Amino acid sequence: MSDSDVPLISARGISKSFAGVSVLRDVDLDLKKGEIHALLGENGAGKSTFAKIIAGVHRPTRGTLSLNGQTVEIANPLAAQKLGITLIHQEPISFPDLSVAENLVLGRGEDGWFNRVPWAEMTREARRQMDQLGVAIDVTRPMRGLSIADQQMVEIGRALASDSRLIIMDEPTAPLTPREVETLFGIARRLRDEGRTIIFISHRLEEVRALCDRVTIFRDGNKISTDPIDSLADTDIIRLMIGRPLKEYMHKHNASIGEVALEVEGLTLPGRFQDISFKVRHGEIVGLGGLVGAGRTEVACAIFGIQPAESGVVRVNGAPVDIRQPHDAIAHGLAFVPEDRAVSGIFRTLSVEQNITAAIPGENGGGKLDHGSGGIVRLRAA
Ligand SMILES: Nc1ncnc2c1ncn2[C@@H]1O[C@H](COP(=O)(O)OP(=O)(O)OP(=O)(O)O)[C@@H](O)[C@H]1O
Ligand SMILES: [Mg+2]
Repeated sequence: MSDSDVPLISARGISKSFAGVSVLRDVDLDLKKGEIHALLGENGAGKSTFAKIIAGVHRPTRGTLSLNGQTVEIANPLAAQKLGITLIHQEPISFPDLSVAENLVLGRGEDGWFNRVPWAEMTREARRQMDQLGVAIDVTRPMRGLSIADQQMVEIGRALASDSRLIIMDEPTAPLTPREVETLFGIARRLRDEGRTIIFISHRLEEVRALCDRVTIFRDGNKISTDPIDSLADTDIIRLMIGRPLKEYMHKHNASIGEVALEVEGLTLPGRFQDISFKVRHGEIVGLGGLVGAGRTEVACAIFGIQPAESGVVRVNGAPVDIRQPHDAIAHGLAFVPEDRAVSGIFRTLSVEQNITAAIPGENGGGKLDHGSGGIVRLRAA
């Protein structure tokens, strides 16, 4: 067997339990050199957990990993980095108060940058990395305030800088515009052609088809199959993902469509969106379509009072409502699940219980959260 036939990574019998709950069972998987390998599966199937085991974020409960035919222990992310394995997280983690350039060179203690920071050199190299990605980000500015897309580009730049052999991208395209996706795919193909290996996790079949060589499907913590992408039709992939044919999966909903629950008329916020009107009836799910930047999120934020519109009418159950802040929206029975769950969706440092009750207004509602006057929330001892 020639060297290039030896898989870069071989996983054998990898299992993982969290607090006794099994989330990955006996996964065998080989990753070849110079391939883009997709991991597909429904939410919670175990894709991210498997990726994190390879990247040293989690230790497997059982099983072994080999790198180039040698068994390896990947004890932590730094150990993975030293082996040339980089994970680009589903939700980028960075140091918001450090500059983009500083974030790009994080973890580079080995080459002598740990004790002595050569600022000019660091800035120059950071610029070069961003240029390579084709993104115009000022590398001297702090990470805080960068869009998620740009933060992700910084993470990708970090992987390139550390000369990784395996780059794991966990749903990298979710926050990207179509143009940014094209840039990313161009970079991924170039890295593959240099002989590097990429794990690409995505829920978007068309992206997997456009980019990947092989696809591994996970279902309920089990690895179901690994095949060349060209050998599978979309219907095969969906059947493997959900364990039965699609037509059995798509159940007709039984709710009857009722009266108009929410009506938006002529909603306008100059520069963001113009004259938006639509109706949502009881028992309906309505999608807001459009490209990134088209204003979908802004319309939702306006309806919910996060940044109210300048003109237009919102009616709830037929009655016009004046929603100037989220509190008003909640009082009218609206709920909002934001785009960036890490930043705006949850209070990371509070308990699950406090998070769940946080949106319930008033002294009696929250239970563990005490909404004081003037928008201040007092934490009561739980
Ligand atoms: N740190 C953790 N502690 C406890 N349970 C976890 C932890 N991380 C993941 N899980 C559970 O493991 C299962 C697999 O999760 P995982 O995040 O790997 O799924 P996924 O395939 O990446 O899903 P998605 O497509 O939603 O990202 C889920 O049931 C999840 O709740
Ligand atoms: Mg995941």
